[in-house]
Amino acid sequence: MATLSVPAHIRSAALLSLVALLGACAEPARHATTPAEDPVARGAYLVTLGSCHDCHTPKVMTAAGPVLDSTRLLSGHPASEALPVLPAGVVAPGQWGAVTNNSLTAWVGPWGTSYTANLTPDRTGLAGWTPEVFIETIRQGKHAGVGRALLPPMPWQMYRHMTDEDLRAVFAYLQSLPPVSNAVPAPLAPGAVLSHTGSAAPGSL
Ligand code: HEC
Repeated sequence: MATLSVPAHIRSAALLSLVALLGACAEPARHATTPAEDPVARGAYLVTLGSCHDCHTPKVMTAAGPVLDSTRLLSGHPASEALPVLPAGVVAPGQWGAVTNNSLTAWVGPWGTSYTANLTPDRTGLAGWTPEVFIETIRQGKHAGVGRALLPPMPWQMYRHMTDEDLRAVFAYLQSLPPVSNAVPAPLAPGAVLSHTGSAAPGSL
């Protein structure tokens, strides 16, 4: 009775072509999870992994903890939200380095008080911005690419390493969001932190 004996080198060649075939089959699935072609889908993917929501999306409190408020994604620190008073001396060398509110949208540190920006395409957000202005903002760490230095904890020093193509995709996604009207307050200087009353009125400094 003839036994099926296949030489080892043919067996491994057959195995290799099977692996190649499986790889070819897996190709479309990889694309579906890391979109490369559609800039808006790629931008959504990068914004998710870049943790932009952590700081730029207000949260709603649930029994399981804070979750993203899906009605105002990436709309920045809510202008109407008063902050609790921060006792003097809490943020100081040898004390706490920074303090944040429950939504992670307002931050107090040695730099003063910073409020996360409205990234939606509203007049109070990024309406009228071009991809070039957005790229300059992230690369230079300056408001609208040319203005004052962006304050912590906006991690532009990390995001500036994204390629132009990825930054364009992030911007395309942000521009596809529903616009949310929210005029984020101007930052407060460090001196103002210690005496500030918790009123986050727009423009207060
Ligand atoms: C750890 C918190 C944090 C994260 C994460 C974060 N940001 Fe920010 N971002 C801020 C803060 C705070 C400001 C406001 C800084 C200021 O007023 O100087 C800001 C400002 C900005 C601005 C400036 C807008 C302007 O008016 O010039 C842009 C654009 C921006 N963020 C985009 C992003 C994007 C895109 C991501 C994700 C890839 C992101 N941010 C992630 C905290 C954060």
